[in-house]
Amino acid sequence: MIKKLKNSNPNFIEYLNIFTNKFESFYNQKYFIDSSPNILKESIQYINSTGGKRIRPFLVCECAKLFDIKFEISIYAAIAIEMVHTYSLIHDDLPAMDNDDLRRGNETLHKKYNEAIAILSGDALLTDSFIMLSDNYKNLDLNICLELISLLSKSAGSGGMVGGQILDLFPENNNEKSVNTMNEMKTGALIQCATSFGAILGNAPKKDHKNMYEYGSSIGKVFQIKDDLLDIQGDEKIVGKRINKDKDNGKFSFIDLYGEEKTKKLAIEYVSQAKDILVSYGTKNNYLILLTDYILDRKK
Ligand code: IPE
Ligand code: IPE
Ligand code: MG
Ligand code: MG
Ligand code: MG
Repeated sequence: MIKKLKNSNPNFIEYLNIFTNKFESFYNQKYFIDSSPNILKESIQYINSTGGKRIRPFLVCECAKLFDIKFEISIYAAIAIEMVHTYSLIHDDLPAMDNDDLRRGNETLHKKYNEAIAILSGDALLTDSFIMLSDNYKNLDLNICLELISLLSKSAGSGGMVGGQILDLFPENNNEKSVNTMNEMKTGALIQCATSFGAILGNAPKKDHKNMYEYGSSIGKVFQIKDDLLDIQGDEKIVGKRINKDKDNGKFSFIDLYGEEKTKKLAIEYVSQAKDILVSYGTKNNYLILLTDYILDRKK
């Protein structure tokens, strides 16, 4: 079944929807821990059934394709990164953090179950993501397997997403540099990890690793800027999250520094930087170019 996602180029949306459906069927099949207690299985199934745009897995598989790596190989890295992303959302919504009741148009996990289950479901997703990588890539190539594990840990940990979440909750400064660092860490790091996974899986030359990392860096910035704009300009029914919450929570973003118009212009500059990096990949880059526009045009 193709889910409805309206905006951007209709052909791209259809392509993304087909990917999402294929990804989700693999995800549900491959991420299943037999020995986990039923309540944990249930809560993880719940959060996974709420959908999500699956942008990070899409990036892993599309960037891997640039280096001739098939979906059947890249899917496990795509699943691992989505597991870490899902954990980050579950914890981000907790009362001790952003205190949100609505996620992807559904109750947040701690509302549906309780805080302990939400904390532990996040812990399980994070920890199990490393089993996903080690079990599925150790027989392919040990070096590739280690590089994937190492980059995912680095991107998720204190110098990456978790560090960025700390800066979001306890900012050291409210200026351009500090907002940029926070965005790069809390959101950019996992997106850079997704694009870099493509080059790692493809055992690509150094130049391509650099390109993928920089492409991820540019779209990571666009991604968080758009998320902040949607908090003000979005339609709650489409976004699937409570809107106007950032101000209420005392969050500080580029919008506070520059206003909405100038912030959007900044995002447009990053979109163009990102597309410039993709030029050298010829027609193989088509869907990544369309994704780059989608990240800024999206309504959710
Ligand atoms: C939301 O991420 C959190 C941020 C890092 C801004 P997404 O917008 O990718 O969330 P889903 O997975 O599509 O719900
Ligand atoms: C989230 O930023 C970044 C994460 C690492 C989850 P936000 O707090 O703005 O994300 P939303 O708006 O709740 O999805
Ligand atoms: Mg947050
Ligand atoms: Mg939040
Ligand atoms: Mg937000």
